[in-house]
Amino acid sequence: MGKTKEGGMLLSVPNGVFYNPEMELCRDLSGLCLGALGGKLSVVDAMCATGVRGLRYRKENGNVSSLALVDMSSRAVAAAKRNAAANRVKCTVAKRDACEYLRNRGFDFVELDPFGSPAPYLHDAAKSFREKKQGFLSVTATDMAVLCGAHHAACMKYYGAVPLDNEFCHENAVRILAGKVILNCAPFNLSAEPIFTLSHRHYVKMIFELRRGSEGAVESVKRLGFVSYCPACCFREAKRLVAIERCPSCGHLLQYAGPLYTGALWREDTLKSMLRLNAKRVYRKRAQIEKLLNTMISESGIRAYGYYDLHTLAKKLSVRIKGMEEMLADFAAEGLSASRTHFCPTAIRTDAPHKKIIELVSK
Ligand SMILES: C[S@@+](CC[C@H](N)C(=O)[O-])C[C@H]1O[C@@H](n2cnc3c(N)ncnc32)[C@H](O)[C@@H]1O
Repeated sequence: MGKTKEGGMLLSVPNGVFYNPEMELCRDLSGLCLGALGGKLSVVDAMCATGVRGLRYRKENGNVSSLALVDMSSRAVAAAKRNAAANRVKCTVAKRDACEYLRNRGFDFVELDPFGSPAPYLHDAAKSFREKKQGFLSVTATDMAVLCGAHHAACMKYYGAVPLDNEFCHENAVRILAGKVILNCAPFNLSAEPIFTLSHRHYVKMIFELRRGSEGAVESVKRLGFVSYCPACCFREAKRLVAIERCPSCGHLLQYAGPLYTGALWREDTLKSMLRLNAKRVYRKRAQIEKLLNTMISESGIRAYGYYDLHTLAKKLSVRIKGMEEMLADFAAEGLSASRTHFCPTAIRTDAPHKKIIELVSK
């Protein structure tokens, strides 16, 4: 059995129980988001493994009124019990299948952190909110090859969507995941709106606010659409329905992805609250988190689908690559909005017209 420290907790990690230290950043950020929500929240970590995520949620945030840890592995359940006792965190621990457990109960905040795709668990997770007016669903996906378009058939099977493997495939990925969440919530008269989105290395993490109401559920579904993309000049456009075949900018045949979510990926006030909370925490990755949150705040202010990777664009246009700062200064000089994006260190998010972007990159 191994021992490790994370977020001020000493954890036992027995053989055969999953623990990935690389996910510490993800746990820091989802914990900050939970803390930023305020109120008093009953929380379930429905696939808890060592229990680290749920235990940290309660230990670090005063707004967790109760915590339930669930896993179908006996070893995981034993480890979670030991870790809860060792760190003096009050909670229940159950050896159950997550779907069966969620289907028959209700919580304010549901954490789904499976191996691979969360798709098979979304129906029962959504159902668990059926008696709630409002709730929060936190979902991790690590099946990035599927969501990013390396396995078309698997993406259609799991998410009911056609993926697109291009330079903003990680944004397509979170939008396909969000679309799937929305379509699972709507039949229960629940709207679902992303309040936090993280794409990092091999995974994505999204946290949604769910609200009861038939009209809201329909409005959420109306935010689904398709993105068209030109592989020749990087033109892209997100619409509810796409009826054109050729790029309006260069005439090349367009590619498509969807249905996927086309709305906002973050709530700015939540990001700002997370930033304030982070300043009070003693996280190992506090500086990295601050930088990430500031980038998210900046890009959340620009309503644009996808980002432009400067390397891809320069290569396709056969022009010299400009540095990030030079490029951002060029946009600012023209009075155009542009920001770095946390999705990719060499890309910018902008709502400038495509023609203008081509002009500035080629200048
Ligand atoms: C990726 S790990 C969870 C990691 C953990 N949340 C963390 O932050 O370290 C996935 C866990 O889900 C459990 N699991 C897989 N399928 C499950 C199911 N249907 N119901 C409950 N637990 C399940 C596995 O036993 C495993 O412990």
